[in-house]
Amino acid sequence: MIDPLSPYRPDALAGHVAIVTGGATGIGRAIARGFARLGADVCIASRKPDALAEAAAALGAETGRAILTVPADVRNPDDATRVVAATVERFGGLDTLVNNAAGNFLAPAATLSPNGFRTVIDIDLNGTFHMCRAAFAALSASGRGAILNISATLHYHGTPLQLHASAAKAGVDALTRNLAVEWGGAGIRVNAIAPGPIADTEGMRRLAPGDAATRAKAGIPLGRFGAADEIAAAAVFLRSAAAAYVTGTVLVVDGGHCMNQPMMLMQQ
Ligand code: HXC
Ligand code: NAP
Repeated sequence: MIDPLSPYRPDALAGHVAIVTGGATGIGRAIARGFARLGADVCIASRKPDALAEAAAALGAETGRAILTVPADVRNPDDATRVVAATVERFGGLDTLVNNAAGNFLAPAATLSPNGFRTVIDIDLNGTFHMCRAAFAALSASGRGAILNISATLHYHGTPLQLHASAAKAGVDALTRNLAVEWGGAGIRVNAIAPGPIADTEGMRRLAPGDAATRAKAGIPLGRFGAADEIAAAAVFLRSAAAAYVTGTVLVVDGGHCMNQPMMLMQQ
C-alpha cells in the first residue's frame, strides 16, 4: 500500500503541538506517529505507564522527535487538566487535541451490567468532554485550535452487542457538533473521524475475533480492512490548514462499510 501520509509535506505540522489520548496503541499511536513524522510535538496520554514508555521510545526513534508521556485516566477531570498543563509547560502551547481513548467489549444489552454500560460511557464520552474542557483555554489561545474526536459508525444503525459503545459514540458525535458551534468563535474547529474496521487493532481483536473478521471483510465495498495510517492521514487533513473551513463534521473512513445495506432479496 502507498504510504497514506505521502501526499503531505514533511513539515506540514511543524510548530504544531498535539495531545493524543490513547496514543500508545492502535489508531491513536498511528495518529501520534503521523503527527510527529510531519513535525509536530506530541503528548500521548493513557493509563499504562509501560505502554506509554514503549511507544514514546519507538516513535521518538522513528521520527526524531521527543514524545511527551503523561499517565492519565480520561475519566478523571483532574487527570485531563494535568495532561493539558504538562503539555503546555513542555511545548509552550497546544493547538490540537485528539480524543481517541476508548473502551469496548461485546456484550448483550440484556445482561450488560450498569457498571459495564457506565464504564464505556465514562471513557468514551465523559472522557472526551473532560479533555475538551481542560484544553479549551490553550486551544483558543493558539489561534488555530482543532479537536478531533475518534468516533465510529456503530450507531448509524443498530449494532448487536454494542449498545454501550453505540450510545457513547452517538454522544461523541453530538458533542462534536455542539462544540463546533459554541467554540468556533474561540478559533477552535471541532471534527470527528469515524473509522470502519481497522486491521491489527485492539478494537478489531475484540469485536471481530476469528471467523467474524473474514465475514466482516465481505461487507466492505473496498474489500479490505483499513490501516491505522489511513486514519492518521485523515487526522492530518482535518488538523491541517487544508481543512481551515471544516468544522462540525464527522469524516467516515471505512471503505464504504456503513453504506452497505444489502437488500434481503439480493442475498444468497
Ligand atoms: C461484559 C464487561 C466486559 C465484557 C468488562 N465488563 N468487560 N461486561 N462483557 N467483556 C464490565 C465489568 O464486568 C464491569 O462491570 C465493568 O465492565 C467495568 O469493568 P472493569 O474491568 O472494572 O473496567 P476497567 O478496568 O475500567 O476497564 C475498562 C474496560 C477494559 C473497557 C472494561 O476493557 C479496557 O480498559 N479497555 C481499553 C481498551 C479497549 O477496550 N480497546 C478497544 C477500543 S475499540 P461490573 O458490573 O462487573 O462491575 C472500540 C471500537 C469501536 O472502541 C468500534 C469498532 C467498530
Ligand atoms: P486501543 O488500541 O485499545 O486504543 C484505546 C486506547 O485508549 C488505549 O491506548 C488505552 O490505553 C486508552 N484508554 C482506554 N481507557 C482509557 C482511559 N480511561 N484513560 C486514558 N486512556 C484510556 O483500540 P483501537 O482499536 O486503536 O481504538 C482507538 C479508537 O478508535 C477508539 O476511540 C475506538 O473506539 C475507535 N475505533 C476503532 C475501530 C477499530 O477498528 N479498531 C473502529 C472504529 C472506531 P490504556 O489501556 O493504557 O489506558
